[in-house]
Amino acid sequence: MDLTGHTILITGGSAGIGLAFARKFVELGNVVIVTGRRQSKLDECKAANPKLHCIQSDVAKTSDIVALAERVKREFPKLDVLMNNAGTYHNLNLTVPAKNLDTLMDEISTNLTGTICTTSAFVDILTANKGTILNVSSGLAYAPLASAPIYSATKAAVHSYTVSLRFQLQDAGVRVVELLPPTVRTDLTADLPEGGDVKIITTDVLVDATIKALKAGSLEICVGQSAQLMWMSRIAPGFINGQLYKGSKSQIPAAGK
Ligand SMILES: NC(=O)c1ccc[n+]([C@@H]2O[C@H](COP(=O)([O-])OP(=O)(O)OC[C@H]3O[C@@H](n4cnc5c(N)ncnc54)[C@H](OP(=O)(O)O)[C@@H]3O)[C@@H](O)[C@H]2O)c1
Repeated sequence: MDLTGHTILITGGSAGIGLAFARKFVELGNVVIVTGRRQSKLDECKAANPKLHCIQSDVAKTSDIVALAERVKREFPKLDVLMNNAGTYHNLNLTVPAKNLDTLMDEISTNLTGTICTTSAFVDILTANKGTILNVSSGLAYAPLASAPIYSATKAAVHSYTVSLRFQLQDAGVRVVELLPPTVRTDLTADLPEGGDVKIITTDVLVDATIKALKAGSLEICVGQSAQLMWMSRIAPGFINGQLYKGSKSQIPAAGK
């Protein structure tokens, strides 16, 4: 895939992985639009990266997605890349009733429903422009981290959805790519200590590896330890699931927290 001259929308592009890709895509000569919920974060982004187009929008709200799609199609008719990146992560204790059942839906609304609804709202313009959809899942799509059970389930679901989407769009000339990052140091992983079996990479390492893979035409981009999770989930699923549980046990919040 040629990585210059595109118009790219990145959901959740005001921080972390999304922002790192946004900067790189601008540097490579693309028009880049980023979204996020917090206007303050978007303002910071714009001040530091004046070429970025920043729009406040929440992927967990269908009314926001509809408004975003109308605006982007009007203001950026050449849009040809959608990166579904917005995501949220919680460690949860499943052994007691949740204090608020709505909070249990948080990751599903953002990571899964957000990806599905955003894709649907933009599929017409992406088809017209023979574009690309880049869904960000996770290495945890292959093997769940028991401390983050709903997060892991959403990423497995995004993986499955992406496979179906790729088949359905192949005749329309829309490329569907999945990026499965390993653990990356961002706000989302701020509490995760260094060391142990989990190798935490930087956003720069992730972006460089992904750009290389995109240029080579890869459709499923497994970076670093995500590739190990993929192979282990095929060769010895019980073993790898158990290892991830052991490694994440200390992150499960105490009952009632
Ligand atoms: N970091 C990792 O180790 C890792 C590993 C594998 C996969 N991933 C995936 O990579 C993606 C990015 O993660 P990250 O580590 O960069 O997270 P991050 O540093 O927490 O950044 C998340 C970004 O998404 C935005 N966002 C969150 N909820 C949103 C919503 N409902 N609507 C719109 N924007 C929203 C945030 O801005 P606002 O809060 O202002 O909305 C922020 O810009 C996620 O899908 C995550 O699951 C991350």
